[in-house]
Amino acid sequence: MKLWGGRFTKPTDKLVEEYTASIEFDKKMWKEDISGSLAHVKMLGRCGIIGEDEAATIAEGLKKVAARIDAGDVEWSISNEDVHMNVEKMLLEEVGPVGGKLHTGRSRNDQVTTDMHLYLRARVIEIVDLAVKVQEALIEQAKVNLDTILPGYTHLQRAQPVLFAHHLMAYASMMQRDIERLQDSWKRINVLPLGAGALAGTTFPIDRHFVAEQLKFDGVYINSMDAVSDRDYIVEFLANASLLIAHLSRLSEEFILWMSNEFNFVELDDAFCTGSSIMPQKKNPDVAELVRGKTGRVYGNLIGMLTVIKGLPLAYNKDMQEDKEGMFDTVYTLHGALSLFAGMISTMKVKKDNMRKAVQEDFSNATDLADYLVNKGMPFRQAHEVVGKTVLYCIEQNKFLLDLSLEEYKQFSELFEEDIYVALDPQQVVNARDCFGGTASNRVAEQIAIAEELLKANHTWVDAHIEKIQLDLL
Ligand code: ARG
Repeated sequence: MKLWGGRFTKPTDKLVEEYTASIEFDKKMWKEDISGSLAHVKMLGRCGIIGEDEAATIAEGLKKVAARIDAGDVEWSISNEDVHMNVEKMLLEEVGPVGGKLHTGRSRNDQVTTDMHLYLRARVIEIVDLAVKVQEALIEQAKVNLDTILPGYTHLQRAQPVLFAHHLMAYASMMQRDIERLQDSWKRINVLPLGAGALAGTTFPIDRHFVAEQLKFDGVYINSMDAVSDRDYIVEFLANASLLIAHLSRLSEEFILWMSNEFNFVELDDAFCTGSSIMPQKKNPDVAELVRGKTGRVYGNLIGMLTVIKGLPLAYNKDMQEDKEGMFDTVYTLHGALSLFAGMISTMKVKKDNMRKAVQEDFSNATDLADYLVNKGMPFRQAHEVVGKTVLYCIEQNKFLLDLSLEEYKQFSELFEEDIYVALDPQQVVNARDCFGGTASNRVAEQIAIAEELLKANHTWVDAHIEKIQLDLL
């Protein structure tokens, strides 16, 4: 017998049952479901909507159900459709008909989204924690590479030399924004929908604020129709996740390039690479490639969710059941990617000499030659032209800028003097970029110090929020 069977004269078609059931994936939220029910039933008893003794019996029953599920001692059934009705059926087995009072003043519509709010708020904390670990790994690598110079690229053409630490810290900044976005979204996740009923509220004298307190929510949805139909918090999470993995995907691409023979700038640790079944020499950056590849499903989950809510009239529609798998999948995908990235970054071998050699065999100091002339009074546009001609001459002569004699330089401008060779040295070129946010080693050290302060704040946020959501219901 279905929990909603009263109005029906025929059993549900088997295919319909399978098609409409969500138990296969929403059973993941059984703990959240039971916590929500415990808070709800406590409130029902307190408000005199059901007897205090009945509330206590139901609460005991729910705890027994939780223990059974925890022990793996239950069979989830498709005919009970979803986690909510499976749990309720189990409760009825434990306590008998009084268990039927649990659903007073509540609907699965406010129940399901309450479960998801509870679920997601915990996952977001975990994801922030993992992102902080990636940030930490980036900062640690940056610290030991404050003297490592490599070409910086634009258009994937060598542009200007930069510190490897500077390059890595760019990703630490991206991670910081990702973390801040997730932290900011948290206040919109930590809001209680329960008490909205099916859509319009309930006729029973419930106390939603008491339930919010029990479940450690910071607020209560102020409109019942919005409460049951809002999936913005999931879209927001999926969007934040998309940007986060976009950043990991860009870094993946750099690792893949840098590990190629053509660049030969880093070697990812054996533990983070795999081999080929046919080519014995191969060591492939599979983790980086897979993170780059999995970016597709994370974006897909975002577009999927946005499309589900597009044009959906208020309030609950069964379409909304499609909100879960994408969210679970994105949580799972981020967990994997972030956990692996922290290890991959901290164990990678940086080939400092190869990076340095690359900088010596290019024209990435050409801007500095122009700046040299500007410092001697030449307008920048004219200096640009002079250096362009000098570079062209070098290419024809098969030389680099540091190979030219002072006589050769003088052909292009009388302003060139012996000190030109110091100005063109890669170390000098890097350290000359001594503006806030620039690649000069003191400026990168400054960035690292700022990032370390943020790191501390991120740790504090994680600890405080883990603490904040501890429930003493179960
Ligand atoms: N399994 C459903 C979901 O995930 C629960 C809510 C069902 N509500 C309803 N009116 N059928 O959305």
